[in-house]
Amino acid sequence: MKVSLNKNVKVQSTIRCVSDRAAAKIADFDGQKKQVTVRYDENGATILCGVGPREHVDIHAIRDAASRGMTTALGLKHQAVALTEFSETGEVRPHAVAALEGAVLAAYSFDKYKSEKPARLKKLDFLGPSLRKSDVMLVQALCDGVNTARELINDNAEVVTPEYLAKQAKALARASDMELEILTEKEIEKKGLGLLHAVGKGSPFPPRLIIMSYTGKPSRKKTTAIIGKGITFDSGGQNLKTSGHIETMRCDMGGAATVLGVMKTVAELKPKINVLGVIASAHNAIGSRTYFPGDIYTSYKGTTVEITNTDAEGRLVLADAFAYTQEQYHPSRMIDLATLTGGVVVALGDTICGLFSNDDALADELLASSQQTGEALWRLPVYQEHSEAMKSDLADLRNTARLKRGHASSITGAAFLKEFVVGIPWAHLDIAGVAFNEREPRGVYPKYATGFGVRLLYNFLTTQR
Ligand code: BES
Ligand code: ZN
Ligand code: ZN
Repeated sequence: MKVSLNKNVKVQSTIRCVSDRAAAKIADFDGQKKQVTVRYDENGATILCGVGPREHVDIHAIRDAASRGMTTALGLKHQAVALTEFSETGEVRPHAVAALEGAVLAAYSFDKYKSEKPARLKKLDFLGPSLRKSDVMLVQALCDGVNTARELINDNAEVVTPEYLAKQAKALARASDMELEILTEKEIEKKGLGLLHAVGKGSPFPPRLIIMSYTGKPSRKKTTAIIGKGITFDSGGQNLKTSGHIETMRCDMGGAATVLGVMKTVAELKPKINVLGVIASAHNAIGSRTYFPGDIYTSYKGTTVEITNTDAEGRLVLADAFAYTQEQYHPSRMIDLATLTGGVVVALGDTICGLFSNDDALADELLASSQQTGEALWRLPVYQEHSEAMKSDLADLRNTARLKRGHASSITGAAFLKEFVVGIPWAHLDIAGVAFNEREPRGVYPKYATGFGVRLLYNFLTTQR
């Protein structure tokens, strides 16, 4: 899809954001949020999208309205679309960026396996004086990153294997100036990443640890590691998941996909930052050679772990990724993204992501980025009692808590991860609720993979202290 600026290309519809005030002059339209109407004249269709009360219009209202406009245009099978600048208030340029972002994000659909392809956007022309070429490039690169993540999450677990993720990282590293380390199953075992090995060992799709290093500012010592859970299918293992819980588990590599999405945007825009993109990937299979409940494994850090449930596998692969990344690459801070627990969906639903951190400043910076990108976060605590609940009688740790079943499972998951962070700021984003939208499209989020976290992390990485 091609985005142009003021090219006046021939379009089938024009998307216009309208506040309640401006809507007063339009029949049967109030300009309220989520309200969309289509009007026709000799130039084609105009899609009017409400942004609510004029005095409260912000980038989120504009982004959301433009995205709904795009969904409507594509529903009409319009493939050449224009988007006009919202100039009712002073913040014209940020609003223009948000509108373009909303429209491009909503233009995605996963149609690989559809015999009859739905209408795809071919041309998008932005109309207005405020946007610069660099704004368009930024929005396009961000949306490319988001769509990279979406494509990986949506595709079959049989296609997107740990090896496939490694191949994607290889292609990305080759096309840009990133360094790359990939540990194969044998190397994972030999180097002592016993937890990642345990989770991945019973599958015909062997595990990988993937580390991409991008150095955009060599003079700066500070390096942030972003680490993604890459379980390409989570059957639950011997603690097999049941019907109703297993069908969407190809999304369990959502954190890894987000990391690849961010690295893709980084490769395109080449910001002056240093970042490590780490992926701990395995297929949590069911079979006679998989790891067993009750057995004890030794992590890369040396800590031993009693497997109390093979379905709590994400924390195991991340624990080894944390320890290996810290020992070999010495990042100054780490942020992990993981579809870690069903509990976070119970606590925060499918629109808000759980945030945990051992560092208030880091948590606040992530919350500030979230305010910019509209990807909502809510911070949850880890208390000493949660860490106590992860202690084992037979080993150093257990991988599920001693608490009553289901109690505070997102928090105890974070408490487990915390044990593998050695003296650096760390944040954990539990994206189990937000990575995959099983409901109808909502705003910038299509049905299924949302790509949550790519814009958030890119914003964070490029606005950090
Ligand atoms: N991958 C799941 C979590 C998940 C649930 C992701 C729903 C996306 C949507 C994870 O590995 C898991 O199974 N967690 C268990 C942990 C429990 C055994 C402590 C859970 O949440 O039930
Ligand atoms: Zn699981
Ligand atoms: Zn999982």
